Amino acid sequence: MWAKSLLAGSVLSTALAGVIDLSIPSAGELISDVEAWIHPSSALDFQEDYYDPQAQVKRKLCTLHALGDEKDDSNNLVAAFEKCGKGGIIRLPDANYTIGRPLDLHLENAVLDLHGWLSFTADVPYWLENHFDFPFQKQSLAFIIRGNDYILDGNDKGGIDGNGQVWYNYAKDFGNKYGRPMSLTIKDSKNVLVKNFSIIQPQFWASLVWGSENVYFKDFYVNATSFNPESSSDEKNWLQNTDGSDTYQSHNVTYENFVYQGGDDCIALKPNSTLITARNVTCFGGTGIAFGSIAQYAGVKDIIEDVLLEDIGLYPSDQCPGYQGVYFKSWLGYSVGIPPNGGGGGYGYAKNITVRDVYMEDIWHPLVVQSDLTYLEFNRKQYADSGLFEWSDIHLKNFTGTALANRVAWMSCSKITPCHDWTFEDINIKPGKKDHPEIHYTCNNFVLGGNDGLSQCHPSNSTFETDNGGTL
Ligand SMILES: *[C@@H]1O[C@H](CO)[C@@H](O)[C@H](O)[C@H]1NC(C)=O
Ligand SMILES: *[C@@H]1O[C@H](CO)[C@@H](O)[C@H](O)[C@H]1NC(C)=O
Ligand SMILES: *[C@@H]1O[C@H](CO)[C@@H](O)[C@H](O)[C@H]1NC(C)=O
Ligand SMILES: *[C@@H]1O[C@H](CO)[C@@H](O)[C@H](O)[C@H]1NC(C)=O
Ligand SMILES: *[C@@H]1O[C@H](CO)[C@@H](O)[C@H](O)[C@H]1NC(C)=O
Ligand SMILES: *[C@@H]1O[C@H](CO)[C@@H](O)[C@H](O)[C@H]1NC(C)=O
Ligand SMILES: *[C@@H]1O[C@H](CO)[C@@H](O)[C@H](O)[C@H]1NC(C)=O
Ligand SMILES: *[C@@H]1O[C@H](CO)[C@@H](O)[C@H](O)[C@H]1NC(C)=O
Ligand SMILES: *[C@@H]1O[C@H](CO)[C@@H](O)[C@H](O)[C@H]1NC(C)=O
Repeated sequence: MWAKSLLAGSVLSTALAGVIDLSIPSAGELISDVEAWIHPSSALDFQEDYYDPQAQVKRKLCTLHALGDEKDDSNNLVAAFEKCGKGGIIRLPDANYTIGRPLDLHLENAVLDLHGWLSFTADVPYWLENHFDFPFQKQSLAFIIRGNDYILDGNDKGGIDGNGQVWYNYAKDFGNKYGRPMSLTIKDSKNVLVKNFSIIQPQFWASLVWGSENVYFKDFYVNATSFNPESSSDEKNWLQNTDGSDTYQSHNVTYENFVYQGGDDCIALKPNSTLITARNVTCFGGTGIAFGSIAQYAGVKDIIEDVLLEDIGLYPSDQCPGYQGVYFKSWLGYSVGIPPNGGGGGYGYAKNITVRDVYMEDIWHPLVVQSDLTYLEFNRKQYADSGLFEWSDIHLKNFTGTALANRVAWMSCSKITPCHDWTFEDINIKPGKKDHPEIHYTCNNFVLGGNDGLSQCHPSNSTFETDNGGTL
């Protein structure tokens, strides 16, 4: 108790009061804690009247140094947020900070100024027991930030390192494995700017915007790469669930200049995502840009509305195919099994969506609509026409590039809720193969008129080239 509470000196004594560690420190910890005690301000330095050249005002500045040697910086980070999280700047100048426990932090009129990595510990059993719950699909969170009018600045050299390799090993070829925590959650927030920020090796989804509005990601980078040599010789996708960014129950979220590499959704719009804009997004590997999955919860109404995506590039990566390009996915109309991998029977609609200026290379399924989604293995065919979610008022324009095989558009809506009022303009994706032209453009339960621009699309229940590499 004595050592930890003295750790950062008197400046922190009040702030740390709630987080005093009663465990008996080891000899090594004692020595470095004594050093910290001798140099009390070595962890957190506080300035009351710092002149912020960007905001051109005087404000509080908390400069937090890393303890080093993989010692947990979490308590000090909490203290810095308590001291400067309202109105101030929290500056982390060092290259690497260790985060060893889940954190739920608050910022108001404040800046988190990161010059290195918040590096999450790789202790899988610990995190399986210790995380915040995200009820949607029974998922887990490691790091939550809430508040209003705040900036997360990675300064083009830092952000979050999820140390995800242990999670890729743990969950290889198993979707939505319980307890893998997300790297960054922006929750119940308003007016947020995330800039020059990277998330590398995310444990699960790299970022989630939940219950928030006016969130702007500018110059954002996510990269999930498996360095395990076993994964390169394995055909299966070890990078499942390493989504780049998901929105849920959020309004007015913008992504500009976003580069993603990984094995799942680059951006995904989950239930109740409205006014979502993405511009200049490049995705390497994975399942592309996803609308959904949606309508997974029986009796619940879900909405996706007012979406503009433009200037989107989609490519395979050197370790993961590009499974889908632009992908609309709603659950079957019956509830079968339980989430995350089962469910269905939800309803609602997606409308006023424009996707334009899309370039793709060697994507298995460039354009997909699926209305009978389930991740459970059973005979899906009997539910194919049951989906209750309505896809309409959707406009796709200027798509160029190449598919990997015969299918360019593979769009199957539900018989009882057909897709309608879509338009297609300048869809010029070349099939990678031409031996089955009958499946280049397939549309089931799609109300197509003469002027919607996809007259070559036709109903087909061919099961040829429907394999998704296990990742839907
Ligand atoms: C940061 O420290 C963690 C251990 O806490 C280590 O696993 C990681 O590789 C380090 N990252 C960098 C960029 O040095
Ligand atoms: C990101 O950093 C680059 C320099 O590295 C700078 O040119 C750019 O303006 C920054 N982006 C934002 C949104 O501040
Ligand atoms: C959306 O959020 C941005 C900030 O990211 C803000 O400038 C803009 O006014 C907001 N738009 C609406 C319609 O609220
Ligand atoms: C992602 O990281 C891997 C490994 O460091 C690297 O080879 C690859 O180029 C990165 N991808 C992007 C798009 O930066
Ligand atoms: C698009 O994003 C990339 C990667 O962030 C960036 O290098 C490029 O300058 C951006 N293009 C435009 C037009 O802003
Ligand atoms: C989505 O919004 C609708 C309409 O406001 C609401 O009825 C529904 O409960 C919301 N669904 C979720 C999952 O938040
Ligand atoms: C459609 O969505 C866009 C944003 O992408 C918005 O500006 C526009 O007002 C919406 N149109 C209607 C009719 O609501
Ligand atoms: C079509 O989209 C590409 C990017 O994929 C862009 O470079 C090109 O200018 C767009 N064409 C038109 C006519 O807008
Ligand atoms: C496809 O549908 C036709 C009728 O439209 C039917 O005769 C045929 O058996 C179906 N094939 C498959 C594989 O379901």
